[in-house]
Amino acid sequence: MHNLKKKGDPDAFDENWKSREETYYNHFTEGEPKNQIQLAFQSHFEVFNEILSKYPTIGKSFLETGCGRGTLSNYFAKNHWDVTLLDYNDSVLKVAKKIFRAQNLKVKIKQGNALHLDFPDNSYDIVANIGLLEHFEDIQKLMDEQFRILKPCGWCFSYVVPERHDNIQRYFRWINILLNFLTFSWILNKKKEKPEVYRSDNFSERYLNCLEMNKVSKVITHGMYPLPMISHSPEFPFSLLPKPIELLLTIVFKITLKIRKKIFGRHGWICNEKFGQAFLVAFQKK
Ligand SMILES: C[S@@+](CC[C@H](N)C(=O)[O-])C[C@H]1O[C@@H](n2cnc3c(N)ncnc32)[C@H](O)[C@@H]1O
Repeated sequence: MHNLKKKGDPDAFDENWKSREETYYNHFTEGEPKNQIQLAFQSHFEVFNEILSKYPTIGKSFLETGCGRGTLSNYFAKNHWDVTLLDYNDSVLKVAKKIFRAQNLKVKIKQGNALHLDFPDNSYDIVANIGLLEHFEDIQKLMDEQFRILKPCGWCFSYVVPERHDNIQRYFRWINILLNFLTFSWILNKKKEKPEVYRSDNFSERYLNCLEMNKVSKVITHGMYPLPMISHSPEFPFSLLPKPIELLLTIVFKITLKIRKKIFGRHGWICNEKFGQAFLVAFQKK
């Protein structure tokens, strides 16, 4: 991918992911979420679904770029969307394929580059990605490609996880440091040196600047994930705690989201961009 060796080269993802058992976790669940990541993906889907119920697409074709295991796409496939997965990394696509097969869900799988999508103009009703855009320094080409392959009335949902140290996580960092120390992760992780992956600190404005506003009918941006990530190893890819602790945290977090909903009168997962772990950049093509 051009000169991105230092700026989020997909080969760095290859090396980073392959070395970690977390790559093989399946974060999709149909029932109640039992850990922090299941809660997160279920909540992402609910937020996207709320937007779609207000501003529907015409058809049901869905593409996830930089899909990894394709967790978000599992939700769309379960809800009768015609899903295509695309990732640069062949080995992670094999993981995604296994997960879809285990769920008995139909999917098309394509190895490819989000910078040069091998699809004609106006191909999909939704293009979505989770944790992809922040890994590129030059995002104009990515945004142009997403726009190009969208059908009229189609939505692009980009969930972006910026490199920031002033969001909600700052109040809870001490817990993770303590967990890291108590579980000896600081010794174990030292042995598993992994390549750095580039992550930008841009907010949504930077992404919106790439859009031609006269060609979109609706733009939505807001913060997402107003909860801490609690883990002995919270960096990417996120490590889960033992099951009973995850379950307890999930229950506490769900109650927190319900209270937030009561107070703010919107989905509890939505928040101020500076406060959340991530933010949404969404637009609907005219
Ligand atoms: C942070 S991971 C996110 C994975 C997935 N979206 C998830 O939610 O678990 C980023 C993914 O983007 C993929 N990727 C990186 N650069 C890419 C590119 N230029 N084209 C397509 N996929 C890319 C990586 O292989 C990796 O699977």
